[in-house]
Amino acid sequence: MSASYNPVIRIVPNSESVDHYAAEMVISQIRTKPDSVISLPTGSTPENLYNLLVLAHKNDDLDFSKVTIFNLDEYWPISKNHPSSYAYYMRKHLVDHININSTNWYIPNGEAPDAQAESERFEAVLQQFTPDLTILGIGPGTTCHIGFNEKGSTIDSTTRYVALDPQTRSANSKFFQNPTDTPTGAITQGIADILRAKKILLIAKGEGKAWGIHRTINGEIGATAPSSYLRCHPAVTIMLDQAAAHLL
Ligand code: GLP
Repeated sequence: MSASYNPVIRIVPNSESVDHYAAEMVISQIRTKPDSVISLPTGSTPENLYNLLVLAHKNDDLDFSKVTIFNLDEYWPISKNHPSSYAYYMRKHLVDHININSTNWYIPNGEAPDAQAESERFEAVLQQFTPDLTILGIGPGTTCHIGFNEKGSTIDSTTRYVALDPQTRSANSKFFQNPTDTPTGAITQGIADILRAKKILLIAKGEGKAWGIHRTINGEIGATAPSSYLRCHPAVTIMLDQAAAHLL
């Protein structure tokens, strides 16, 4: 096991404060380094963060023209135009509303016929960059997933196909019109990819994340809680609302 560090833990009054802090971090990253490389999550947690970034672009000239965005993951298989795909989510919440160069946005292709070949292609592109900042959410219940790195993920894992944990499928089925359509797998950046970022911000909101946050920070570091690997990185901030922090 690599050296372990203590993440910076910030507990704020409510979920809006989490969104504002995360947005400030991204905005200051881009203003300081306009050609920043940023890895981004999906899900309900960062939706308002993306609203704030779009507002900063529209009202305060936040310039994304030199920014590179990598998504952490995508369901597989899924059509890019499926309203529950992460490609669709990113266009809806962020990419279609900012001045990012479309060639500077990378997301695993859920339509690729071969998930392993697609994972290798995405990993090869990712390896050409060093993310300056990676923003993460955390999976539901006891999954402790980051990206879609479910239990069993190793610290040296890279981009690959993963089968989704039943808790993940159940929580994410709310995003599918017909819950049984929730995919059984996904392509995700690996733990090693996530830990290559210079800085990492994990954001979590609500009671449903409290167990996972407690386990991330206090349990043994290892594959039974992939988010615990974040303690092997020297520059991690964990930003929580009161509900997500209540077991700490
Ligand atoms: C999803 C994504 C993760 C995300 C997490 C939490 O399945 N793959 O990247 O962080 O689960 O989702 P939510 O924010 O909806 O709780």
